Amino acid sequence: MGANRKVLILPGDGIGPEVMRQVRRAMDWGMRKRGLGFDVSEGLVGGIAYDTTGSPFPEATQEAALASDAVLFGAVGGPKWDNLDFALKPERGLLGLRKGLELFANLRPAICFPALAGASTLKTELVSGLDIMIVRELTGGIYFGEPRGIETLPDGSRRGVNTEVYTTAEIRRVAAVAFELARKRGKRVHSVEKANVMESGVLWREEVQKLRDERFTDIELHHMYADNAAMQLVRQPKQFDVIVTTNLFGDILSDVAAMLTGSLGMLPSASLGAPDPSGFRRGLYEPVHGSAPDIAGKDLANPLASLLSYAMMLRYSFDQGAEAELIEKAIERVLAGGMRTADIMQPGMARVSTRVMGDAVLRELEKLA
Ligand code: IPM
Ligand code: MG
Repeated sequence: MGANRKVLILPGDGIGPEVMRQVRRAMDWGMRKRGLGFDVSEGLVGGIAYDTTGSPFPEATQEAALASDAVLFGAVGGPKWDNLDFALKPERGLLGLRKGLELFANLRPAICFPALAGASTLKTELVSGLDIMIVRELTGGIYFGEPRGIETLPDGSRRGVNTEVYTTAEIRRVAAVAFELARKRGKRVHSVEKANVMESGVLWREEVQKLRDERFTDIELHHMYADNAAMQLVRQPKQFDVIVTTNLFGDILSDVAAMLTGSLGMLPSASLGAPDPSGFRRGLYEPVHGSAPDIAGKDLANPLASLLSYAMMLRYSFDQGAEAELIEKAIERVLAGGMRTADIMQPGMARVSTRVMGDAVLRELEKLA
């Protein structure tokens, strides 16, 4: 892997610290046994950062993130911080990282592990073998558009405003990521918007089509309205290969897709920036599940989404596909062996804690290596 890669771990709030502890163990194992070279440091983000420093995204964390090759992120938020001002909410830390590092392409795979097909709320035959990649635009759209805010009108009533806005360049760069991924998969992309009611959706559709016709004629492109996409995801999810969509629709559709797989606790994600001249992309890797404050600190959380996020880091930031597969295979074996954290518990399986799940993955890694 060449010189040591700088990795910043931001455990955050809720179950973040306990799942990231298991990632740390897998990284240590990789350094000891697989010759991986990381310079690992930890930082504060989210509610814990607010409690400690007064900001959910302290300057020291911003600087450390900018100086690192990849960020491994746990989760942020919790009821304790729900009533804070928008600018101080734990979520600002996450949004600040995405925006500050210009991580515009959010990859959210929805893969149904064979051993877990029965845990989905959908019929097994609809989801078993499911393998969808959702590419969500992450630094634009209504999350960041101006104008935004809440204003008081002359009559004393109030008006809340957010703006959905996309430029050609923003659409093309995220669509290119989707097409390139599709090329290595099923060569099929569904582009999702609401071109029937939104001008930004019309532009989205036109630009994605143009890019396809210019550079990706080997890819089959379909356009779909977001409401229909939500329905199709639960009706016939296996029709999808890669989905590319806006920030807000991607937020919603990726939660739907997550549920298809049997557990939110299983899903990793990668957020990638533009490649530098050497082809290196900065990335942030995080489980799709949130901070789950109700089970925080109880050793109940599922660490697999974080471990799978670490595998994505190995693959997408450091070009270590074989090492990523090792982690994925170890997890598959642990699941096949019947171990389950509470969130994916099924009849007849062995219910285990966060730490025991981590132990089991390390054990499988030892066997596979
Ligand atoms: C997600 C989350 C975030 C989002 C929140 C925590 C700001 O729901 O990553 O999907 O809306 O993007
Ligand atoms: Mg979300």
